[in-house]
Amino acid sequence: MLRPADLLAWYDRHRRHLPWRAAPGEAADPYRVWLSEIMLQQTTVAAVAPYYERFLARVPDVAALAAAPEQAVMQAWAGLGYYARARNLHACARAVAAQGGFPHDVEGLRALPGIGPYTAAAVAAIAFAVPVVPVDGNVERVAARVFAIEAPLPGAKAAIGAAAARLGADPAARARPSDFAQALFDLGATMCTPTSPSCGICPWMAGCAGRRQGIAADLPHKAPKRARPVRYGTNFWLTDGHNVLLRRRPPRGLLGGMTELPGTPWRAERWSPADAFVHAPMPAAWQPAGAVRHGFTHFELHIALFSARVERIEGEGFLHPMDALDAAALPSLMRKCVSLLG
Ligand code: ADE
Repeated sequence: MLRPADLLAWYDRHRRHLPWRAAPGEAADPYRVWLSEIMLQQTTVAAVAPYYERFLARVPDVAALAAAPEQAVMQAWAGLGYYARARNLHACARAVAAQGGFPHDVEGLRALPGIGPYTAAAVAAIAFAVPVVPVDGNVERVAARVFAIEAPLPGAKAAIGAAAARLGADPAARARPSDFAQALFDLGATMCTPTSPSCGICPWMAGCAGRRQGIAADLPHKAPKRARPVRYGTNFWLTDGHNVLLRRRPPRGLLGGMTELPGTPWRAERWSPADAFVHAPMPAAWQPAGAVRHGFTHFELHIALFSARVERIEGEGFLHPMDALDAAALPSLMRKCVSLLG
């Protein structure tokens, strides 16, 4: 028998200590829960933790976030990637502040900017004890395994979601929706791991259909992925020995509003140096300075870097001290570039 009570008993002993998690018996702060969930979209728990702490220290509550200038929010977010999330975070905080607080139900949360079905369910369950099961990758894996769902993702999403809801409908789960959701996250992250699950010590071993059939580690199956297309760009590191030339990207679109080294647009064809130099900030003795690859959701970007040192920097943008690049709101892609040069 697959008993939610067994999972909850395991969670009571083995729960992870995470910076956004309320202590046992303590009420969760909706702002912290929501902030962590937005940060955890497409980013791992280990990577998020330091950014979360830093963000919270700068922006302690939803009123502070609503009142913060956009540039300060982008700067606090820098390094987490997917900057549309930061803009939505800001828009959401304003909407919540205007409403006088977070809505307590899934539908109300879902209506806020940047909150999809998963995040609405996660915040509702964790912060407001609404008996729903948020289905992220961890929960998907656990549910596919315990019910031995062999249909491949993404087609099996609905079946897996229904299976997760079945677990959440158990009275023990309904009595502790916040803990049940987080127990599923923890089980997926520490025990029911993608490639070598620790089935021998799992609190759900007795009721797990995937384990019984010897297929747990292979689930969930995934339909083959298409390769991401490649885009190419060239960026320029222009320095006078003290400062480097930077510019801001347009406010909308990928990495909107973030700071970057001047460069070419991104395109499907490689740039020859001659074509790329048309986009250089000024004529100079440009030297090849390395290459960077960066994965976005829908494509992979290959950047060629050139550098030059001149007496007097010219070109569109602004000067930034070379030794203070940590303070610039550089996205990860640009951090990779700068780390080759700085
Ligand atoms: N993954 C997504 N949300 C999480 C949370 N609140 N705790 C741990 N892992 C998570």
